Amino acid sequence: MQQDSESLSSPLLEFVNVAREFRVKRGFFADELRLQAVRDVSFSLHKGESIGLVGESGCGKSTLGRLAVGLLPASSGHIMWQGAPLSVAGQAGYVPGQLQMVFQDPFSSLNPRWRVGKAIAEPLRAQGVSAGESAARVASMLELVVLDPELGERYPHEFSGGQRQRMAVARALITHPQLVVCDEPVSALDAPVHAQILNLFTALQ
Ligand SMILES: Nc1ncnc2c1ncn2[C@@H]1O[C@H](COP(=O)(O)OP(=O)(O)OP(=O)(O)O)[C@@H](O)[C@H]1O
Ligand SMILES: [Mg+2]
Repeated sequence: MQQDSESLSSPLLEFVNVAREFRVKRGFFADELRLQAVRDVSFSLHKGESIGLVGESGCGKSTLGRLAVGLLPASSGHIMWQGAPLSVAGQAGYVPGQLQMVFQDPFSSLNPRWRVGKAIAEPLRAQGVSAGESAARVASMLELVVLDPELGERYPHEFSGGQRQRMAVARALITHPQLVVCDEPVSALDAPVHAQILNLFTALQ
């Protein structure tokens, strides 16, 4: 595989001995348990690279994805984004628009009370993009994920699981992020749409 000089030098994302635990109680009188969801993970990811993560249910894949986009802080170890700590002192980091995630369950990741066009535009609003530009980008994003731009006026429950997942992909990509974490992004889709979305990811990458 050929790598350019930039990718040889500095990683975009780096995990160094990262662990994440959760404190859980099994019953009111039970003692608090420490559940080790992610243990001693180290890797680095350069621009243009992909990493696939495979493992049984409950082994920590989604937790690792949340750590990677700064939605969760690590319990120990270091997560570096472009050479700077992504989470500091137990506080998860936030890098507007650069790190995005397509969640495992598209129903829970789209607000049921928002028209999907508004939901897809939300990451742009956080970046201060004007309403006019944002509407144009939503329309072109919907076309990219093979959905009619007019569907932006509807609500999430009016769509099939596959359509909702494509909307979640549109929302994750609308800011042109540098890193997208995809948590089983095509498991809800049927084979032809599955292929379309994977081809789209490859083309955008
Ligand atoms: N917020 C949380 N609070 C407590 N425990 C959690 C929390 N999030 C995850 N866990 C636990 O951490 C472990 C890893 O969960 P995670 O969702 O990362 O697994 P996964 O590999 O994505 O599983 P699946 O393939 O089923 O999606 C599980 O035991 C889960 O119950
Ligand atoms: Mg998961």
